[in-house]
Amino acid sequence: MERTEGMQAFFDIFGAKAEDLFTAAGRINVIGEHVDYCGGKVFPAALNLRCNIYARKTCTKTVRMAFRGIEGIVELDVNKLDSYKGLKLGNYQAGVAYFLKEEGVEIVGCDLYYDCTVPFGSGLSSSAAIEVATAVAFSEYAGVQYDKVQLALISQRAENKYAGVNCGIMDQFASAMGKKDHAVLLDCSTLEYEYVPLKLGDYCLVVANCNKPHNLVESKYNVRRQEVETALKLIQQVLPVKSLAEVSPKQFAEVKYLLSGVVAKRAEHVVMECDRVNKAVAALKAGDIVELGRLLNESHYSLCDLYEVTGKELDALSGFARKEKDCLGSRMIGAGFGGCTISIVKRSAVDGFIRRVGKAYQDAIGYKASFYETSIEDGITVEKL
Ligand code: GLA
Repeated sequence: MERTEGMQAFFDIFGAKAEDLFTAAGRINVIGEHVDYCGGKVFPAALNLRCNIYARKTCTKTVRMAFRGIEGIVELDVNKLDSYKGLKLGNYQAGVAYFLKEEGVEIVGCDLYYDCTVPFGSGLSSSAAIEVATAVAFSEYAGVQYDKVQLALISQRAENKYAGVNCGIMDQFASAMGKKDHAVLLDCSTLEYEYVPLKLGDYCLVVANCNKPHNLVESKYNVRRQEVETALKLIQQVLPVKSLAEVSPKQFAEVKYLLSGVVAKRAEHVVMECDRVNKAVAALKAGDIVELGRLLNESHYSLCDLYEVTGKELDALSGFARKEKDCLGSRMIGAGFGGCTISIVKRSAVDGFIRRVGKAYQDAIGYKASFYETSIEDGITVEKL
């Protein structure tokens, strides 16, 4: 949606002009999957696909929200912020408002029109983009100085404790702290981070959505978290570690006998994926895109065989990508069970890649994948209209 259309939609709904545009990004993750809640390092980057909020401060006691493509207005009473957990639409926003208020930020009434270009249920973190952009809007209208990392943490809290999804910090951090043309190497145990230029030479990242209908992702995700927590407790009987990310591959080989079944598989994924993140960042810094691609493939295989979060759709999409001679590597990103893959593809070969992989996928699965034109952008933006 063009900006003028967004402003017009705002005017048609609320009868006044939008004054501000707040945005926060969806994200990809280059590597480091299902390790953020184990204290590992992740390597996400913010996208041009974003949650855009056209906004106006009203100074009432009501937050009014409207959403592109959805009829009606959702209202939040700023004095009853604990009562919106059951909302289908607007619970992320209510959660953010609730926890900002808990931090002493006054929630000021406003009108918000949401134009979210991050596809829902795609594994590109539409929920984090909505939370972070909303946190920016409320903080700006409260007139407080805010720290973007704090907004990411509050957004995560809203998702964990208000929306009930036990996610790690990666998505909200990337959405708030992403930087144009860089990936963020984030240590999820300390929140120390480093920006690394995402320079792929003759190659680029292609983002593809397998379009599998969304089902039970949250509950399956929460089960994975329990499994790795079980693994950590068992390993802690013999190693003085605070998180699975602290266990080196060599140490893991020595303590693996303590674990069995799925718990052993899940822990092995986490330990090896943490190791791959370090190798991938080193490869990228050295300009070794072939090695980076190889590590992406390994990450996918591990998420398939050990963590078991891929499914036939993501396996097919990344598998067909891998067969292309101009593709150096491909893997699922995000929570899995559906959603997106990223592939490293020679720039000059992207059109043919999309055509062939798209056709092979449709023939195998029976419906189409979507391919997005993406670029790496800043996390948060704030603009006067
Ligand atoms: C989801 C969660 C993140 C992270 C990824 C898997 O996107 O929100 O915190 O755990 O899954 O890496």
